[in-house]
Amino acid sequence: MSGLVGVRIAGTGRYTPEQKLTNADLSKIVDTSDEWIVQRTGIHERRICDPAKGEQTRTISQWALERALKDSGTDPAELELVILASVTGEMRCPATACVIASAVGAVNAGAFDILAACSGFVYAMQLAHDLIACGSYKTVGVIGCDTMSKLLDFDNRGVCVLFGDAAGAAILKATDDTSKGKRVGAMRSDGSGWKDLYIPEIDSDYPEGASRETNKIDTLQMNGREVYKFAVGTFPRLIAETLERGNVTVEDVDMFICHQSNARMIESAREKFGIPHEKMYVNIDRYGNCSAGSVPLCLDELREQGKCQEGDLVMFVAFGGGLTWASLLWQM
Ligand code: ACO
Repeated sequence: MSGLVGVRIAGTGRYTPEQKLTNADLSKIVDTSDEWIVQRTGIHERRICDPAKGEQTRTISQWALERALKDSGTDPAELELVILASVTGEMRCPATACVIASAVGAVNAGAFDILAACSGFVYAMQLAHDLIACGSYKTVGVIGCDTMSKLLDFDNRGVCVLFGDAAGAAILKATDDTSKGKRVGAMRSDGSGWKDLYIPEIDSDYPEGASRETNKIDTLQMNGREVYKFAVGTFPRLIAETLERGNVTVEDVDMFICHQSNARMIESAREKFGIPHEKMYVNIDRYGNCSAGSVPLCLDELREQGKCQEGDLVMFVAFGGGLTWASLLWQM
């Protein structure tokens, strides 16, 4: 633990839309099949926001944060800061976190958004942790949410089958127990790979040679093979580096909470490190890749199952657009 005070995860919450989009549903929209999707990604279904029910980034984030506040027994007025990690905030201004903070009654909180794509929640947890550990804040709400469905081009089968919508939140609090919180963490990027995962908004956003016809404005563009290569290399390297810097072994870690981008990648890392199945959480089969929502969704499901409890050592690992990657070895 590097800080002056400890930091504990006092509570968590999540919100996933009710509306399911199964592989069978998708095969009626694009030329794909359940077999292809399951074999390449491990995804069976994903949740999609229903605007008619008011589901969008700011509302599902609000509902996840309200659940985390309740879980931790925190009065919203205690929150001093609300951080939202997302690539799907509603407006360029204001920050979606401001709207969420107001909606939950966090009348004493500063609020801002950060953008680190799928790594966003792990980045935000480190920011919040370090602000608390150095004594500046006592209670911070951290949210990871993405509603990727609004960025999907349902003519692009290589991308639209991968993503789903979800929000997850955690309440971090200062504690006198300095053993709790971050042991080691990493936040990294390599912007030279930006064009492997991007959302063009205007003509000048396009990399050279990209077609405006197929790579539609305001939709997620991905070079799947390049992202796969980046991720299968970075993911195990990051785990190895985090174990080494934390001076721990796989056996010391109680749970690996990894970004859910592809079941094959998670499985290959699990095998490489000899991590038992029960220590490597997987829910991509039910939710797809929820970008910044993936990691906090896993965390909340695990805590609901009685896992990731006080005293456990947890490793968070994520990677995504930017390109970015991040890890966090956390003493619960
Ligand atoms: N259904 C059926 N066929 C498809 C589909 C689909 N949904 N999508 C692509 N195909 C076809 C392609 O057209 C191609 O056909 P061809 O050989 O006739 O040209 C064939 O399947 C193989 O395509 P590949 O792109 O080579 O398939 P691959 O085995 O690489 O799997 C995948 C694609 C699943 C996207 C993989 O590359 C991957 O997982 N990449 C990483 C994606 C990722 O993790 N992105 C997000 C990470 S960061 C973040 O979370 C934001």
